[in-house]
Amino acid sequence: MGRWMWMLGLAACGGASAPQAEQGPEEAVDVTAQARLARNTPSASLDGEQLYVEYCALCHGEQGQGYLADNAPMLSNPWLHAMVDDAYLEQAVKMGRPGTPMAPYGSAYGGPLSDAQVRAIVAHMRGWADPSIDLGEPSAATGGSHGRGKEVYDVHCASCHGVEGEGVTGPSLANPVFLRTMPADLVTRTLQHGRPGTAMQSFEGVLTPRQQADVASYIESWKHKRGRRLPPATKPARDMEPVIHAQGEGPELPLRKDRYVASKDVLQALRDGRKMVILDARSTGDYVMYHLPGAVPAPYYSSDEELLRLPKDDTFIVAYCACPHAASGKVVDKLRKLGFEHTAVLDEGVDYWREQGFPGATGPTPFGVKGSAAQAYGP
Ligand code: HEC
Ligand code: HEC
Repeated sequence: MGRWMWMLGLAACGGASAPQAEQGPEEAVDVTAQARLARNTPSASLDGEQLYVEYCALCHGEQGQGYLADNAPMLSNPWLHAMVDDAYLEQAVKMGRPGTPMAPYGSAYGGPLSDAQVRAIVAHMRGWADPSIDLGEPSAATGGSHGRGKEVYDVHCASCHGVEGEGVTGPSLANPVFLRTMPADLVTRTLQHGRPGTAMQSFEGVLTPRQQADVASYIESWKHKRGRRLPPATKPARDMEPVIHAQGEGPELPLRKDRYVASKDVLQALRDGRKMVILDARSTGDYVMYHLPGAVPAPYYSSDEELLRLPKDDTFIVAYCACPHAASGKVVDKLRKLGFEHTAVLDEGVDYWREQGFPGATGPTPFGVKGSAAQAYGP
């Protein structure tokens, strides 16, 4: 069987102008196919609504109502729009919320969207603002104490936002991108008004103005915690070999509901040297931060042409995301419609895989720097 390469239409990221500019000389790239993909990839669009539906609706809902997957927050909330500016929203889209299912979407961080496309999406979201909302005078005091704030936080906030602010059903407040970009009064304003229509209630009358200031100061203090990483400014490599153990036989994998495969079974098949393809269905911006060794990016917004480059034989194709099923489910649905027979969704998702201490890789290539299938999964 001839060796063939897996390429994404990443050329579309920086605009269609010079798709080949960044290729190294030694890379054997099918430039014709790539140019075709770059033209066909719908993401060349500057239509904010269309882009929003294609890239964001999966989790946040077509109307921005939120909570379709992963506790993705409501984006159509007029109170959110009254509290933040365009720059805050643009940064959230470009850099994501690392460590959560909200991936970086900006091309500078390995994502699919140009700056102009991010602006178009934010302009679309701004259509959900309600100019008649008046935030009024702030009710919280200033200059809170973070020591006292911790006590308030542990009692009133941790159940939804996590003891360490890591996020549970509510968003992660210790997130480095969030902390770096949030307006100074976002926490106290959110406590004052809540986010009507969501689980985030107003805390007026529950917490005193002083307690509100204290908890804001406690959240603010997380800015200085170490080990809080921003997404790196790299993108996945341009061409990759998608098949792991190309000489092996395809595995027999037990599927739940004819669709979901358990992480431990996937790991065992890889350890047994079985012929597999592992697809990372998240936005490409997440790939470089962490992926399963040998995985190749196949984001939920991949075109049929891109997916049709995968082998249609006994190779088993497993897709995963963090959701844990929304993005990977979309990819598996597309593959099955295209006639791929051996496909499944990784049941527990990538966060579980990582938490189990199963093999992982970082960086732009499938096995990480100098890694190999043998190193990752043993002989
Ligand atoms: C795979 C699911 C998923 C997709 C797809 C997704 N998001 Fe998110 N998004 C989330 C989650 C989950 C959060 C909350 C993360 C956290 O902080 O815990 C979030 C947070 C956000 C926030 C921050 C909201 C706030 O109140 O601070 C914005 C803005 C946002 N997303 C916009 C977008 C846009 C625009 C797109 C499409 C380009 C998109 N998201 C695609 C899951 C997703
Ligand atoms: C019952 C669960 C729950 C509790 C308790 C709760 N929150 Fe929230 N919080 C949420 C949810 C859900 C959201 C996202 C709402 C949305 O969709 O916009 C949120 C949003 C927020 C936001 C906005 C974050 C962003 O990215 O826009 C802040 C700030 C916040 N909460 C602070 C607090 C603080 C401080 C407390 C404790 C005093 C608290 N919350 C208690 C569920 C909760």
